[in-house]
Amino acid sequence: MSRIDELLARMTLPEKLGQLTMTASSYAVTGPVIAGDSTESIANGTLGNLLNMVGPGPTHEMQRLAVEQSRLGIPLLIGLDVIHGHRTLFPIPLAEAAAFDPQLWEATAREAALEAAADGLAMTFAPMVDISRDPRWGRTAEGAGEDPWLGSQIARAKVRGFQGDDLAAPTQLAACVKHFCAYGPVNAGREYAPVDISERALHEVHLPPFEAAIDAGVATLMPAFTDLAGIPMTAHGPLLRDYLRGRLGFDGVIVSDYNAIGELIKHGVAADLADAAALALNAGVDIDMMADAYRKGLPLALARGAVTMAQIDTAVRRVLKLKERLGLLDDPYRRGATAEKPAAIEKRRALSREVARRSIVLLKNEADALPLPATMRHLCLLGELASSKPDMRGPWAAAGDIDGHVTVLEGLSAALPQARITHVDGGDIAAALAACDEADAIVLCLGEAANMSGEAASRASPELPASQQRLVDAVVEQARARATPAPVIALLFSGRPLIVPKLAEQVDALVAAWFLGSEAGNALADVLTGKVSPSGRTPMTWPRALGQVPLFFGMRPSGRPADPQDYYTSKYLDVPNEPLYPFGHGLTYGRFRYDNLRVSPARVSRGQRIEVEVDLTNEGRAAAEETVFAFTRDPVASITRPLLELRGFARQLLQPGETCRVKLSIAAEDVVFPGADLQPVFEPGELQVLVGPSADRALLLGASVQLVQP
Ligand code: NOJ
Repeated sequence: MSRIDELLARMTLPEKLGQLTMTASSYAVTGPVIAGDSTESIANGTLGNLLNMVGPGPTHEMQRLAVEQSRLGIPLLIGLDVIHGHRTLFPIPLAEAAAFDPQLWEATAREAALEAAADGLAMTFAPMVDISRDPRWGRTAEGAGEDPWLGSQIARAKVRGFQGDDLAAPTQLAACVKHFCAYGPVNAGREYAPVDISERALHEVHLPPFEAAIDAGVATLMPAFTDLAGIPMTAHGPLLRDYLRGRLGFDGVIVSDYNAIGELIKHGVAADLADAAALALNAGVDIDMMADAYRKGLPLALARGAVTMAQIDTAVRRVLKLKERLGLLDDPYRRGATAEKPAAIEKRRALSREVARRSIVLLKNEADALPLPATMRHLCLLGELASSKPDMRGPWAAAGDIDGHVTVLEGLSAALPQARITHVDGGDIAAALAACDEADAIVLCLGEAANMSGEAASRASPELPASQQRLVDAVVEQARARATPAPVIALLFSGRPLIVPKLAEQVDALVAAWFLGSEAGNALADVLTGKVSPSGRTPMTWPRALGQVPLFFGMRPSGRPADPQDYYTSKYLDVPNEPLYPFGHGLTYGRFRYDNLRVSPARVSRGQRIEVEVDLTNEGRAAAEETVFAFTRDPVASITRPLLELRGFARQLLQPGETCRVKLSIAAEDVVFPGADLQPVFEPGELQVLVGPSADRALLLGASVQLVQP
């Protein structure tokens, strides 16, 4: 009999339900605070999992209660939202996606795991892989943006980084891919709102990153708060039980979102907590986070015959198995046993700076406004965000302190010791104008405060706050009126693409600064001063008008594509169809030319690879790294295909004047799509390969291959 079967055989129903319950907790001066519960439940074995308890002291103290005092001594599973770093913060996931660097994506997850595990944690509720095509949705900040292929690459990298090769290692965490599934297309971008999308969109857009995470071995998964066409995901038997467990073979732990089982009542599918608990368990949810529906409701559901003990046992077995895989059954104190060395923490800060600068996207740079010249004497820095440490952290700061994050003011002061930097917050426009009157350059720190994106932070108008726009208007007018106009540079903080067509027109340079984490100010200074060339590319389209939303490059064609000469075509009367900035857009301090695209072999069958080569030349004056994208387009298929589908990318650093041949390869295996019956098909015929710097069709070189059946 296995250790788990032995344990299970000895467990009472309350002990079993304890293993299926996760409760929020924290540590106050007076001792542990366990939401709606007490440490007694841990000691008597009726509470098996915690979230939000952090630090080796508190986590070990709780662990000791479970291990030494409870009848069976089963250790606790303790998790936290380690989303973009733990104490050392990295750029938010949307920003990090802009780096287009799988090694970095993995490295930040690995470092976050090391740091969190040293704090006694064994699980993170990450990665969030929800695809977002709607910048109104605040949780856009937590994911990789609009593209399922990109999202899948990141999902894999994150799972590898958090979990490593051996979940039992004291340095690794169990990852939790979330929120399954199709949380991004909430109605009108409003948080927690209903979702109703096609089966096709589900399979083509929203499921692939989850499938990738499962393929990479993710240990746990969290259903979304939302419903899908009337079935709340927490009770979605067809997707959780039949698809996820049945078809994909996912055998990990499914943990509900916070109070989500209880919310089945408000959703309108459960009459009471017992009903809700039965629906969730029947759908395949193992752990109830914070609803206390399993402990309170399952005994009644059992009595009603709505669930069976065998189902409860299956869920308990999965939880125990996870605890075993994490090494908790062998040594519950392995995480948090050894304090990290200062050198490891320093190395992590250096990584944070590196990722942050690679995540910065230079959206516009006219007349070489950037980089700032080394000779600059006087810089004017405007805006509250320039000196706000907490806002550099972003919306999911986890255990990151309020302090200890480098502001733009600090970063620029360190990078430009010879220059005078005048900083005012811009609240008083007259004072701001006086401050920048004689400056050599003006840097405006604009956009969102950290709490304006993230969970429950949907915005109907994701634009610049009106007071900021007034500041920009006044500053730009004054700067232009000077005998020698001063360049105006805007750093835009946000957890989403903002709708800023006017700002983009007004300023000389526009930088997407997202939320870059602990080293934000240093990373921005590195890029602004030209210490490094910017290299980030936006992982999400920037609309020019809110009415264009959802706007994304992977749209399907219309039978009446936009034609300015033809009234009855697919377009708006008041704005162009084109975005302000397309997916993949991002300037560098170099200037790149693409020539001689070659795609081979001419005929490709499933199982082969399409080799793509293109000449890349840096015609600019600075060394820079270019990101080269490869898309495909299937012009004739049984089901229409999107106008562009991302298939790969490569990054290449080139000195001024240097040329090289960039090579990419696309697996023909990837050029399949869900056919009429939603099963994958590979259809023979022409496949166009389009290569270039972004999803802007006008900038892409194209060539074709023939797909053939072997
Ligand atoms: C609610 C969020 O939706 C989820 O992403 C998070 O993991 C849990 N709260 C726990 O904090």
